[in-house]
Amino acid sequence: MSAPSAGRWSHLLSIRDLDRDDIEQVLELTDSFAEVAQRAIPKVPALRGRTVAWLFFEDSTRTRLSFEAAARRLSADTLNFSASSSSLSKGESLRDTVETVSAMGVDALVVRHRAAGAAHRVAAWTDAAVVNAGDGRHEHPTQALLDLYTARAHLGDLEGRRVTVVGDIRHSRVARSGVWAWHALGASVTLVAPATLLPADVGDWPVEVTADLDATLADTDICYLLRMQRERQSDVVVPSLREYRREWGLDTQRARRLPDHALIMHPGPINRGVELDGAVADLPRTVITDQVTNGVAVRMAVLYLVLGAGPRLVDTESAVA
Ligand code: CP
Repeated sequence: MSAPSAGRWSHLLSIRDLDRDDIEQVLELTDSFAEVAQRAIPKVPALRGRTVAWLFFEDSTRTRLSFEAAARRLSADTLNFSASSSSLSKGESLRDTVETVSAMGVDALVVRHRAAGAAHRVAAWTDAAVVNAGDGRHEHPTQALLDLYTARAHLGDLEGRRVTVVGDIRHSRVARSGVWAWHALGASVTLVAPATLLPADVGDWPVEVTADLDATLADTDICYLLRMQRERQSDVVVPSLREYRREWGLDTQRARRLPDHALIMHPGPINRGVELDGAVADLPRTVITDQVTNGVAVRMAVLYLVLGAGPRLVDTESAVA
């Protein structure tokens, strides 16, 4: 078994394990890897000889492909695991699956699972570094990091910026990571949702809460929309999608009431005509494509940190040489 990397960056399981300096370190390293992406051959040997395996037990387009692109651009070897064609169908447990893949000599496991806490469980069963690529409604830390990077690329320093997060917060791992990430960089967060789409413990979050989207628009720097996560909803949370759209959807009229500089963000996949209108999704201020692009460089930074030299890794020059 390969030795795990030491120190603070052994895993990335929760955004709440990172302080402001840690987040700044990721964003700074991301700048260097974003520059690599502009090269004729967007590849560096930083993780040559290392092996990264994907353990995706839940569907994904953006996260999985961008982690794969990130690993390849760092020259890591990759092992592709497909839950649907694996021995899970023969009754193999998650733990046995993790131990089996780990026994092949992997250095990092990138894990997505429908169960909250799955990434933490996996980390207890392997010596490899574990990166949480989304665990149920719990956390999605790399999404939060790429959101910060994208917002900062457009707006500069996020200190004092006002982020309005709209929609299905109760079932959202993106919100559970994002709120703490925005807060760590000094932004203030307002959650906009009906009571049925708010988490029970929202009183413990560093946020304001309202159900009135229209009242927030003029004071918003970043309008962050969430998808209705019907795959994680076990009961009726809004009377109808038509009513949801009328009260909490970002249509063209509402988008016009945002300040000129304000960004519209969404983690994807989007449901056009529900949380945002198709025309709004295609506005220049809607930076969803930038979020996807930046996801590759952010995930390069995360893989490099968990597989690299840990806390002493500040020498970005050697990473991109
Ligand atoms: N934002 C996000 O996690 O997208 P995927 O489900 O496509 O990975």
